[in-house]
Amino acid sequence: MTDNALAAPQTAETPPPGRIAAEAGRRRTFAVISHPDAGKSTLTEALALHARVITEAGAVHGKAGRRATVSDWMEMEKARGISITSTALQFPYRTCVINLLDTPGHADFSEDTYRVLTAVDSAVMLIDAAKGLEPQTLKLFQVCKHRGIPIITVINKWDRPGRHALELMDEIHARIGLRPTPLTWPVGIAGDFKGVLDRRTGSFIRFTRTAGGATAAPEEHIAAADAHTAAGDDWDHAVEESELLSADGSDYDREQFLSGAATPVLFTSAALNFGVNQLLDVLVELAPPPSGALDVDGTRRATESPFSAFVFKVQAGMDSAHRDRIAYARVVSGTFERGDVLTHAATGKPFVTKYAQSVFGQQRTTLDTAWPGDVIGLANAATLRPGDTLYRDVPVQYPPIPSFSPEHFVVARGADPSKHKQFRRGIEQLEQEGVVQVLRSDRRGDQAPVLAAVGPMQFEVAVHRMATELSAPISLESLPYQVARIVDPADAEFMNKQVSAEVLTRTDGVMLVLFSTRWRLEGFQRDNPDVKLRSLVAA
Ligand code: G4P
Repeated sequence: MTDNALAAPQTAETPPPGRIAAEAGRRRTFAVISHPDAGKSTLTEALALHARVITEAGAVHGKAGRRATVSDWMEMEKARGISITSTALQFPYRTCVINLLDTPGHADFSEDTYRVLTAVDSAVMLIDAAKGLEPQTLKLFQVCKHRGIPIITVINKWDRPGRHALELMDEIHARIGLRPTPLTWPVGIAGDFKGVLDRRTGSFIRFTRTAGGATAAPEEHIAAADAHTAAGDDWDHAVEESELLSADGSDYDREQFLSGAATPVLFTSAALNFGVNQLLDVLVELAPPPSGALDVDGTRRATESPFSAFVFKVQAGMDSAHRDRIAYARVVSGTFERGDVLTHAATGKPFVTKYAQSVFGQQRTTLDTAWPGDVIGLANAATLRPGDTLYRDVPVQYPPIPSFSPEHFVVARGADPSKHKQFRRGIEQLEQEGVVQVLRSDRRGDQAPVLAAVGPMQFEVAVHRMATELSAPISLESLPYQVARIVDPADAEFMNKQVSAEVLTRTDGVMLVLFSTRWRLEGFQRDNPDVKLRSLVAA
């Protein structure tokens, strides 16, 4: 599609030339990827605290024991001690505007996490110093790699006993093929932490233990010449190891970072607020700003083009006081003013943005203006689905967000037969929001659709929402399938005759065959090499 921002007619609201590029250039939009418990919520709070957005740690997530929350949705999170809903957190830091897109913290809930990763320009990979790379981190890393998202690595909980820093660097290099290029290096082992050597300036940043996280830890910068006096042999070891890293080619290289070949590394203690400033500085200095996006035809829409955005997530039932539905859209180009009438590319219909909000934890504030890299929360967005494009003036359509290969399948049935209409409408809504994929077949009938998901917790969300919000309680019956493949309609009948396989059609018309195990699938493919089965996109 055309990329003619400069040729576009100037209207009263058109920002002065260069303004959009300048605003885009100071945005840093990123997400934290980690395994549950690595400290993501703690780090998020610490980042916001450092940027002086919140005065008291705990305002973002409202975890048990911290700030109280209001909705029954949050009750479900609290009971599980996890974060289901995503937070889009925006705060200024130095000359930049940081957009932190929070990702759900549970291994099961990964589909939303994947979607959030379509909306970021970089990611922070948070690793627990004692545990190293864990399964969810690896999975999410693969998504980042696939999408070409540059990664900053943060080794957290350095205040506690953990593994040796060099060993962790080896693990990152060996297991994910990213060259770690530490920007700081710990002085003192995990658990006996004195601070870090700033490898870019050579100075010592001394760590001072503070009482649990309520305020930013003071960071004292000590010149290299005085560091031995301050930290003793630990300083000398850190210097030696840092020199080893340099000899090994593990110094920061911008090109390698942006191309996804290397990852800058920092050492932190999020709980004690150490290293958090350094992470913010690295985001400002090294992380890439928004750079537009490719449309369905592969043409790049530059940030200076007229407004465009894509919806990466739809969230409903967040607050029982407002039974609304928020679509989160990431701005790709142009400027957004609340009240703008946009075009919804999927339908060609106008979309009025009177209810634009920014959502910060559980607080919502009206959002008046947004620039490339920002996230707009659009309330009352009944027609918007994940992957939808919104634009103004010059049409554009972004590629759909890939739907992920489901691994869990259940049959849903309405608990109350008189509520058939609500049942149908509710299932349709959950599908549109991307909570579950819905599969049907003549054999099973419309009353008993099959729900498919990447993680089983999505089914709990579906049951909860159907009962409390969509007025159609459901019961679920597990199906003994674990893997899905796309099948050509011509082969459907043949596939249905196979043992432990079943063909169903997704609402978008794609035909899927489900197998009970990967082993069965592989056996079938060996015996029937002529039947073409295709994988669903994994990322
Ligand atoms: P998550 O969102 O990634 O799941 O992790 P979360 O921030 O909830 O942190 C998990 C646990 O790890 C919390 O302890 C948290 O306090 C602790 N933690 C996070 N960062 C650090 C750190 O840098 N050092 C140390 N020592 N601990 C850290 P908890 O006991 O589960 O909860 P809480 O009662 O402390 O809040």
